[in-house]
Amino acid sequence: MKVAMVQNNPVFGEKNENIKELFKLMERGSADIYILQELAYTGYQFRSKSELQELSDTADNETILKFKEKAVQKNSCIIFGFSEMGGDGKIYNSSMLVTPEGKTVIYRKTHLFYKENLFFTPGNSGFIVHEWRGIKIGLAICFDWFFSESFRTLALMGADIIAHCSNLVMPYCQTADYARAIENRIYIATVNRIGAEERTDEKLTFTGQSVLVSPKGDYLIKAPVDETGIFIHEIDTTLSRNKQLNEFNHVLNDRRDLFYKKG
Ligand code: ACM
Repeated sequence: MKVAMVQNNPVFGEKNENIKELFKLMERGSADIYILQELAYTGYQFRSKSELQELSDTADNETILKFKEKAVQKNSCIIFGFSEMGGDGKIYNSSMLVTPEGKTVIYRKTHLFYKENLFFTPGNSGFIVHEWRGIKIGLAICFDWFFSESFRTLALMGADIIAHCSNLVMPYCQTADYARAIENRIYIATVNRIGAEERTDEKLTFTGQSVLVSPKGDYLIKAPVDETGIFIHEIDTTLSRNKQLNEFNHVLNDRRDLFYKKG
């Protein structure tokens, strides 16, 4: 099973152009699963809720249809971040998984980061694992990584790989993924963007370096800090399904909930 990570530099607000660029990058390589960044084609730094509203998409509108058609054309599963106008009138920072068979799954970001809290509603979907062609794909978005319970929950739900759509501005995640991958024995695909946005009095610089980390902590992909591109690697589910660290230790079953604090 081949996984492609697409690292891009979207121009704020230029939805159609950004999607064209993403699709162009996708055409550069062949894979079973394509993972794109958080808010993949809108940009990140919104000035107001009304601006965000204008750039948001419902789950089945024309913009989303383009991704569905692309999944069919490539006979691949695509996961991408977008600003979702929910049926409840609220706007969620979401990711969508679309398959060539026409299935769609939406995850709504659980842990909003920084000023996202001004514009988005915290996700209510809970964590999601979707099985497609024998691989179990867990969905997470950017700051979710900061809470180890997020990836742990996805591992407990059986995820082989976490499709972690991101717009990282802090430098920690790509390193922290090492621990998250080995403690859960899963693949982590953190797909980040490059470039910067300065649409307010604050400049946000995105840290690039999308990474694919194996259940053994190997960095199978480490993309550049400042270049767009598509990065592809094979993954092996026999590795992510073997949770036995040695003959005595199982990374999930050895947990002792009794002594862990809930809050
Ligand atoms: C983030 O959650 N976009 C840092």
